[in-house]
Amino acid sequence: MSRVSDQEKVIDANKQGHPLSTEHIKGNTKKLYLESYGCQMNMNDSEIVAAILSEQGYNTTTNLNEADLVMVNTCSIREKAEQTVRKRLEKYNAVKKINPAMKVGVLGCMAERLKAKFLDEEKIVDLVVGPDAYRDLPNLLSEVEDGRDAVNVLLSRDETYADVSPVRLNSNGVSAFVTITRGCDNMCTFCVVPFTRGRERSRDPQSIISEIQDLVTKGYKEITLLGQNVDSYLWYGGGLKKDFDKASAIAKATAVGFADLLKMVASSFPKTRVRFHTNNPQDMDLEVLHTMVTYPNICRYLHLPVQSGSTTVLKRMNRQHTREEYIELIDNVRKLLPDCAISQDMIVGFCGETEEEHQDTLSLMEYVNYDYGFMFAYSERPGTLAEKKFPDDVPNDVKKRRLTEVINLQRELSLKNTQSYMGKTVEVLIEGNSKKSEAHWMGRNSQNYAVVFPKGNEKVGDFVQVKITDCTSATLLGEALH
Ligand code: SAH
Ligand code: F3S
Repeated sequence: MSRVSDQEKVIDANKQGHPLSTEHIKGNTKKLYLESYGCQMNMNDSEIVAAILSEQGYNTTTNLNEADLVMVNTCSIREKAEQTVRKRLEKYNAVKKINPAMKVGVLGCMAERLKAKFLDEEKIVDLVVGPDAYRDLPNLLSEVEDGRDAVNVLLSRDETYADVSPVRLNSNGVSAFVTITRGCDNMCTFCVVPFTRGRERSRDPQSIISEIQDLVTKGYKEITLLGQNVDSYLWYGGGLKKDFDKASAIAKATAVGFADLLKMVASSFPKTRVRFHTNNPQDMDLEVLHTMVTYPNICRYLHLPVQSGSTTVLKRMNRQHTREEYIELIDNVRKLLPDCAISQDMIVGFCGETEEEHQDTLSLMEYVNYDYGFMFAYSERPGTLAEKKFPDDVPNDVKKRRLTEVINLQRELSLKNTQSYMGKTVEVLIEGNSKKSEAHWMGRNSQNYAVVFPKGNEKVGDFVQVKITDCTSATLLGEALH
């Protein structure tokens, strides 16, 4: 898998669009076929849905033909993601012709915008459930049983599913995701997330710690804290982030921010690797970097999406930082954490992007020397601020050419970075077999590079010292030291 390919492909390798499965609960007789598209937060939401449905008598199946209920967790981030889901809905409906008792549900980000289309116009689904309404699934399913269409796309001020223990799907038993915030208040002009997932709210730190405790007891070795913008995590007893100003003096004084949460997690589980995703350059403060320095179990890896290297484009995107401020942040990372890997998200061809602004993106990439990245051509999304304010005026062929340029540059930078590991020894957490060979393990180092090496008598979940002897632009190859 190339880390510098389109993000959809990257997630594809993480079982995107594959049926998800888990251990079966005895006594459950109904069969759920579940697919998840989009980001890791969607994947974690699918795990919450599986947990709620397992209480309703459903076990997962990977055989579409035998399903009683088909659920697809959808993504709206780019047009292509929506098209993929539409194709899957056509496929489910073809199966439904043979098995008319089968029910089809749409979950997640496409639910709100397309509910009327799916239910009334096209009649291709029985059930539409938005990201904050999964607790309502039992009621909605009984409506479907009674022959009614069921829909709940209400967004919530406080839903964090804090007390739902996610059922781990297609898990390697080694690393797991734990959601810490939901929604986003940032209003980047290109982005549909604030509309599909609602306002930002943080989850009670105690429930986060107890979920991690449970995972650690089950043998998990690596936890990734998830949020659209983890830096703006803020717990003050519940409520929306935007209402913090109105909180009581006591609530304010005892509030828990992201750096505090990170300290709590890293110190409570010193043998567990801690990762987090995604940071937002505009909100990231130095305390997070200092916390990383203090706790060696926090991985040396930061995903710091910048979207563009041009201050004028960033302004049109409503990102709250300039190129110079981003560079200052990167300089601080390099100073405090010299061995930290940094990755990016980049959008090319945003409204009005000139050749000069595009060159600023390329020069920023060179300056930062990103380890890897996820690069996209701008895709206009209905209802976003950019759709209302700016024409999508960069021609497709120009977008394509610019995308190729950033992908090629990233590939060069990635190769330079992987080559710098040659001869070094890194600690690897084994996740499973290498995709290409059963005789090799695949694991990751702290910097999140995939490391492949011949099997000895290690097992999945072991930490192993591996000496790097070869590399591609995305993978380190080596031998275990014993
Ligand atoms: N919360 C994350 C991003 C969530 S979306 C953050 O702050 O970066 C994941 C990535 O998809 C974004 O970083 C962006 O690079 C890309 N993306 C979002 N909207 C897009 C659009 N309309 N067209 C192309 N790419 C988009
Ligand atoms: Fe989207 Fe910007 Fe939030 S990219 S998810 S609005 S930080």
